[in-house]
Amino acid sequence: MTPPAIDMSSTTTATTTEDKPKNVGFRVGLGDITPNNLGQLKRLNTVLFPVVYAPGFYKDVLEVGEFAKIIYFNDVCVGAVCCRKEPAAGSATEQNLYIATLGVLAPYRRLGLGSEMLKHILEQANLPVVAGQPKIVKLYLHVQSNNEEALEFYKKHGFEVTEKCENYYPQFEVSDAFKLEKIVN
Ligand code: ACO
Repeated sequence: MTPPAIDMSSTTTATTTEDKPKNVGFRVGLGDITPNNLGQLKRLNTVLFPVVYAPGFYKDVLEVGEFAKIIYFNDVCVGAVCCRKEPAAGSATEQNLYIATLGVLAPYRRLGLGSEMLKHILEQANLPVVAGQPKIVKLYLHVQSNNEEALEFYKKHGFEVTEKCENYYPQFEVSDAFKLEKIVN
């Protein structure tokens, strides 16, 4: 079945990969986030997440290079991932990568698109360190405690729950979150 198209298309520098069993026959590609498509990212995040992200979030996204991407399905923008680098406690040579948002529009889920984005982030995190730059040693994120699909998704990709964070989202009825981590490098 071809999922319905959603009118969020744009021109893109996306690369094409058609090697995943679930999206064979479809064009799937990751694209950079630029000032020209930042509006698309904001619309996606508004649909995907209950949290409203401040302007500073989107300013930082433009600075993080390969750690923020939009995903295209048959040239339609259907999902995105945004991460930020954080210093690792007590180390000048190591840093952590926080996955702030990763989401795929509902009609396009279970097609391997979330996995494509996470695979890209993991590949980038595992690249050899540039001289003088701290190396990424851990990926982590928070998931609302009732978000079963996200918990299953991250566990499938080797993340482990390391903490229950009570009242992490005080603005929501379900306010608890789980912290999940994956050690890399
Ligand atoms: N139920 C159970 N397992 C699931 C589900 C689900 N609904 N969705 C994904 N998985 C697991 C499965 O093991 C799946 O493999 P399978 O399809 O072979 O069984 C595996 O994850 C990979 O699934 P993908 O198709 O790559 O994942 P998808 O593209 O559907 O994206 C995501 C998963 C991002 C969690 C999607 O459901 C989504 O966008 N949800 C809404 C936004 C969201 O909650 N994002 C996470 C918030 S927290 C954060 O990212 C920091």
